[in-house]
Amino acid sequence: MNVISVTNVTKSFKVFKERASTLKDRIVNRRKNKFDVFLGLDNVSLDIKKGETVGLVGRNGSGKSTLLKLLTGILYPDTGEINMQGKVSSLLELGAGFHPDFTGRENIFMNAAILGLSKKEIKSKLDQIITFSELKNYIENPVRSYSSGMYMRLAFSVAIMVEPEILLIDEVLAVGDAAFQQKCMDQLLRLKSVGTTIVFVSHDLGAMEKLCDRVIWINKGKVTEDGQPRKVIDKYLSYLAEEENKRLIEESSPEPVTTEIDVTQDNIVKQEEIQKDVIHEVDENRWGNRYVELTDVIITDINNIPKLGFLSGEYLKIIINYKTNQNIENPVFGCGIHTIDNIHCYGTNTFIDKLKIPYLEKGLIGKMVFEIPSINLGAGTYLITVAVHDINGNQYDYHDKKYSFKVSSITNDVGIVKIKHEWLHEK
Ligand SMILES: Nc1ncnc2c1ncn2[C@@H]1O[C@H](COP(=O)(O)OP(=O)(O)OP(=O)(O)O)[C@@H](O)[C@H]1O
Ligand SMILES: [Mg+2]
Repeated sequence: MNVISVTNVTKSFKVFKERASTLKDRIVNRRKNKFDVFLGLDNVSLDIKKGETVGLVGRNGSGKSTLLKLLTGILYPDTGEINMQGKVSSLLELGAGFHPDFTGRENIFMNAAILGLSKKEIKSKLDQIITFSELKNYIENPVRSYSSGMYMRLAFSVAIMVEPEILLIDEVLAVGDAAFQQKCMDQLLRLKSVGTTIVFVSHDLGAMEKLCDRVIWINKGKVTEDGQPRKVIDKYLSYLAEEENKRLIEESSPEPVTTEIDVTQDNIVKQEEIQKDVIHEVDENRWGNRYVELTDVIITDINNIPKLGFLSGEYLKIIINYKTNQNIENPVFGCGIHTIDNIHCYGTNTFIDKLKIPYLEKGLIGKMVFEIPSINLGAGTYLITVAVHDINGNQYDYHDKKYSFKVSSITNDVGIVKIKHEWLHEK
């Protein structure tokens, strides 16, 4: 049985243009449109069954809160229909529904009354609500003196204690401390187990996966994916990593990025002789005599397309282009990965890895490729060092943490490195 039914719902907002500042402007622009119409939700249809727990994900401004406000009845659709069946309790923006000058206790009464409880019912639940919120010592204070976390505690306590049939929650849980978040999660699981329908917006994708039977990804006002949580979240994360990657590439290169790099060609290509006697060092993150020169370092995906935003576990390749300014024997190429706070995550070189490069003659152009089939790092920004030196460690060209990439992760485990593991429970 569908308890929430949204059919072809469109909701637009008027976005006002800059106001005319002078009388002349006002008269001249009198007949012109003073606002643009922005589609917050664009022809959205979805049904939610009784007892389902549905998560909404999407970037900032994609329309998630707009959808919850429409379901709550705070906003009305321009076109389309919304049908809700059952007692709805909602936890939208922080502080919405609270009067700042009233005390916590008074706000509980007002809030619960709005949610449809009689005075008697509220009285019988009051102690329970206050106990759950852990705000006993503050309950006679006006809520304007509350912190965000305290607001959330009060709002959550009221929203769940009225035993709703449909509960709508808009990412407010994030402001609670870890202990309270856990309490909220336990309550949501309890409500879920007694058949409450829950629609839940969060950027905590781990919590989303734990709680939801189904996840809907909203992008630019439209439903982009709707289905099994893991699948939808994976697609959403790939999209986010891709968007982040585009942004980082745009940020890092004012000129258009060169597209594919051919690494299938012979690793060493003969070129005209290159003369380089004096090195004027302008870059403090780079040193060495340049007998071998690292000319270009590119981080790419498996298809050699430049990429800077990765999902943990994805393929990553570092292409190190070089040229030789001298005849070189036994060069060693190295590569290291660091966190932004300077922890050396990993480092190796061709000597350690027993890749012998016996001789490079002067005037060569070539590339070394450092392939990482699975970048098993935790979420964060990482810096790459690349270097080429002789067998004794004398540097030809050292690029110290000059390149960076980002990793995002679907899971909530912590740390720099994702260590493969299993849990076993033995009794
Ligand atoms: N009252 C309003 N007037 C004008 N524009 C609005 C209004 N409410 C929402 N919008 C616009 O509609 C779009 C969707 O907003 P909405 O709050 O639903 O996004 P969201 O998915 O909840 O984002 P977030 O993750 O940041 O909370 C945004 O571009 C927002 O600016
Ligand atoms: Mg929102």
